[in-house]
Amino acid sequence: MSAPINEFVRAYSQSGTVRFHMPGHKGRAFHGLEALDITEISGADYLYDARGIIGQSEAQTAQAFGSAATLYSTEGSSQCIKTMLGIVRQNCRSERMTVLAPRNVHKAFIDACILLDLDIKWLYPLQPTTSVCCADITPEQFEQALSQGGIDCCYVTSPDYLGNFADIGSIARICKAANVPLLVDNAHGAYTAFLKQNVHPVALGADMCCDSAHKTLPCYTGGAYLHISKGAPEAFVKCAKSVMSMFGSTSPSYLILQSLDLCSEMLRSGEFSKALETTADMVESCKQSLLAQGWVLCGNEKMKMTVHASRCGYTGTQLADMLRAGGIEPEYSDTEYVVLMAGISNTQADFDTLTQTMGRIPVKAPLKTDLPIIKPTRRVLSARQAALQPSYTADLEKSLDKVCALTVTSCQPSVPVVVSGEVISEDIIKILKRYSIFSLNVLYL
Ligand SMILES: Cc1ncc(COP(=O)(O)O)c(C=O)c1O
Repeated sequence: MSAPINEFVRAYSQSGTVRFHMPGHKGRAFHGLEALDITEISGADYLYDARGIIGQSEAQTAQAFGSAATLYSTEGSSQCIKTMLGIVRQNCRSERMTVLAPRNVHKAFIDACILLDLDIKWLYPLQPTTSVCCADITPEQFEQALSQGGIDCCYVTSPDYLGNFADIGSIARICKAANVPLLVDNAHGAYTAFLKQNVHPVALGADMCCDSAHKTLPCYTGGAYLHISKGAPEAFVKCAKSVMSMFGSTSPSYLILQSLDLCSEMLRSGEFSKALETTADMVESCKQSLLAQGWVLCGNEKMKMTVHASRCGYTGTQLADMLRAGGIEPEYSDTEYVVLMAGISNTQADFDTLTQTMGRIPVKAPLKTDLPIIKPTRRVLSARQAALQPSYTADLEKSLDKVCALTVTSCQPSVPVVVSGEVISEDIIKILKRYSIFSLNVLYL
């Protein structure tokens, strides 16, 4: 069977079986997809004890990525991030576990630290940055931090939301030498395993990574992978499913599982790699056209086009509105940037529309901005201690020197500005205002 989950569910849906089981629509047309939406019935395997069709499909996908094991998630990379950290926690000898991470993590990382009671040591970029989304950390910074001891795990977000890759190969070698596992949030980079040059974290030496299949592969929203690499301790594979089950629903979506399954078939057939190559060429020539028009671009990802709008006379939000008026919906915009994400379903006509629309917008002198620089924060409580105690909502103006109770993230892409347990400083207040956040939960201390 080449797409075992989908083949099973299709056969079941055509069998005429009377469904005395969940879901409530019993496979009868309602939204139109019901016939294929089943639960863990006999023969359909169990996501967290996958020995049948799900296990078979996962094993096929692991082969496509070259991992020791690939686990399906129907609850996004968010679930995989908690699982990766849970796996390391379960195999860590330290009484308290400390994770070293550049600050541009997704919110799921903070949630995991709260749930698993992990300590965090942040790394900040040597060059000043004004965006919470990027953190240009060098391998030497990891090496230096690890040489001081007390680190149980390294965690990197790559590619980041703006399309910048970290040097995962070098960081992985440093982590191996220090005998510390390296976890990568590769939510935006599932496709990187299928480029001409495979730059997926599993190929570059990371111990584990998560990929949001739904972000860059033809897969339903929620579909994601947790990959455990061949170089990772065997114990990681052994406990992975049971740890993942702690962070997931007991009713995984079979629609999402089928889309992961069908996507896997496409990845293995070589069809995706071929289409990806064509799309990567279209992205590259679109980038060249935009550069020729005078736009400032950043990031080195093959499927992302990030326009540094504020250096071209517009806020990202203004530029995004102009694109919308031209019938284009970008992935993200803020005061500085507009992010456009491409995929194999984009056509040459889509790229032409983009270059023509951008070509009609005059590039102007950079905006004069005084955006606050991201600076190191002061922590007085662990994220868990602060997040799991009573708090109240305070106006931002009245929050100076208070302790943040609930992590505040920029709204999309959910990167924290201030984390539970950190003291709210003047700098943090400025950054929160920049992201139009005017209240937050603080402790009664
Ligand atoms: C860098 C990063 N990591 C993790 C996630 C969470 O992924 P998911 O939506 O698949 O749970 C996101 C979501 O946008 C993200 O941008």
